[in-house]
Amino acid sequence: MSTQTPTTAPAAPDLSIARRRSAELERQIKEEPGRFRVLTGDRPTGRLHLGHYFGTLQGRVRLQDQGVQTFVIVADYQVLTDRDIADHLVGHVEDLVLDYLAAGIDPACSTIFTHSALPALNQLLLPFLSLVSVAELRRNPTVKDEIAHSRQASVSGLMFTYPVHQAADILFCKANLVPVGQDQLPHLEVTRTVARRFNERYGQGSAVFPEPEALLSAAPLLLGTDGTKMSKSRGNALTLSATADETARLIKGAKTDALRHIGYDPEARPEVASLVLLAALCQERDPRDVAEDIGDGGAALLKKVVTESVNDYFAPLRARRTALAAEPGYVREVLKAGNERANAVAEATLAEVRATMGMTY
Ligand code: TRP
Repeated sequence: MSTQTPTTAPAAPDLSIARRRSAELERQIKEEPGRFRVLTGDRPTGRLHLGHYFGTLQGRVRLQDQGVQTFVIVADYQVLTDRDIADHLVGHVEDLVLDYLAAGIDPACSTIFTHSALPALNQLLLPFLSLVSVAELRRNPTVKDEIAHSRQASVSGLMFTYPVHQAADILFCKANLVPVGQDQLPHLEVTRTVARRFNERYGQGSAVFPEPEALLSAAPLLLGTDGTKMSKSRGNALTLSATADETARLIKGAKTDALRHIGYDPEARPEVASLVLLAALCQERDPRDVAEDIGDGGAALLKKVVTESVNDYFAPLRARRTALAAEPGYVREVLKAGNERANAVAEATLAEVRATMGMTY
């Protein structure tokens, strides 16, 4: 559940199993990247922030560069339940794709596509819905969490079916690996259940769908400038695309504490530790060493170091983003090509599903 604090809470038993399995998968990926197909993606809710970057984006680029086939979904059907976002959908989609491209997702080898452009993917939702019970959906912790956080008075049927929709997102391309944060683990469990039940009910022993595995991202979550989880909706996020000046201003206003000596203690001093960690991630160093260098320099020096580290690290990405944003029509072309490729895959899978279910007329 996303209410779990990332760095301080003791790992639940199943989480430690998931972590161990992810380490084993990382080893296998290095040996045989061609065995894996990744599906990953985001809702187009606006510009990505540094938590996204170090939590997922960097890992996706690494997988892609290791030679793992990668599909990246822009989940535009998953933002319809938020009116503020849905009203500015095109801008949000373009921002998201620009962030992807600037971060190093290469449309020549990764397929970036929009949910709504794939009719065959969406049609998988119907047979998949028949494989899960309402009680299972109601119990799903991620759904519960989403419902709790949504500002709506009532829950739409769409929101209720997100985990099944997500199963279609993953299974349409037969992805066997899904990089996720721990809050998405229950969603993935639904996908695995759907795949298993489909194979059992219709596959007659043959596995039409793989049971995809979670690849947990190693990077701990970063806190926002107010000391709570970094999130766009809380207005506490440092975006990838912020200018150097905006970055300096935001970090200057970040919450710290009254102790002069800077150390790295995520449990006792979460706000300071998160800033130290951010600088460390940008410098590709151990956070304890970064803290030691700052020592008695206090919050002022800490913030100066963080600002410089972020601005140095993200300067090339930001320059690339600006250049790509200036090319008219580029994002549209990327999506058009990605949607074409993804549609061919989705149509082949739907045809196989129909044949397996005896629905060829
Ligand atoms: N639910 C994801 C998010 O909140 C986006 C998403 C939709 C997704 N379908 C997916 C992620 C399939 C991984 C796999 O950002």
